[in-house]
Amino acid sequence: MSSPPQHSVEQSPRIPEEPEPPKHVAIIMDGNGRWASERGMHRSEGHRAGVNNVRRITTSFADHGVKYLTLFAFSTENWERPDDEVGFLISLMGEAVRQETQPLHDQGVRIRHIGRLDRLPDGLQDAIRESMELTKDNKGITLNLAYDYGGRAEIIDAVRAMVADGLRPDDITEDALQRHLYTAGLPDPDLIIRTAGEMRISNFLIWQSAYAEYYVTDVHWPDFDERQVAKALEAYGGRQRRYGRLDPDETS
Ligand code: FPP
Repeated sequence: MSSPPQHSVEQSPRIPEEPEPPKHVAIIMDGNGRWASERGMHRSEGHRAGVNNVRRITTSFADHGVKYLTLFAFSTENWERPDDEVGFLISLMGEAVRQETQPLHDQGVRIRHIGRLDRLPDGLQDAIRESMELTKDNKGITLNLAYDYGGRAEIIDAVRAMVADGLRPDDITEDALQRHLYTAGLPDPDLIIRTAGEMRISNFLIWQSAYAEYYVTDVHWPDFDERQVAKALEAYGGRQRRYGRLDPDETS
């Protein structure tokens, strides 16, 4: 005699739950130059428009419940751009930090920096340090500025720091490395967004992004607005994160 079916009671349809927002979003803000060229403007105007977009997008992610936002503002490779553009980007960063720190502080944003500070002009280093100091006890979203940041340089710096701390081969674990990265204390990014359409990672958070979800949009950074934020989060909400495992219903 065959046994009765295991699930004879019809299951009620599942009520769709509001998807959890990602805890940590990281953005490769690309397309400032193209945004400017399309409007017959100089590239520098695109970078200015890019800076002007930072507060609105930080506020928007905070409103959606995101706790950490990392922005790739200047890479270790960006030093190779023409001198006048590098000079402009550096002075723009100084302006941005001075102009944006107080309004971000007023919104409870905590500002952090990842990357190397020592190659930046002293005035900019001071401005970044002051902005971190002023906002360090804030309880709102953490805005993590990746400036003179490169993922490979970060791993090299972490290995050097472990050696300097006297770690022996057996002490070198994933946890130990994680604790020596610039991002120590931050959760890994759940979602990495790249604007302006390119499908590459460009040396950004290469250790931390092992299980991140990627979202690429053709929209240029200065045009990436609240609607684009909602679209990216909606796409993320539809992803199934498995971290290399199988879904429970695939294991039987
Ligand atoms: C990409 O545009 C952007 C950068 C090189 C980084 C600069 C980013 C900003 C100025 C915005 C935010 C700044 C701060 C201070 C948080 P691109 O020049 O690569 O554009 P393209 O690919 O269209 O030429």
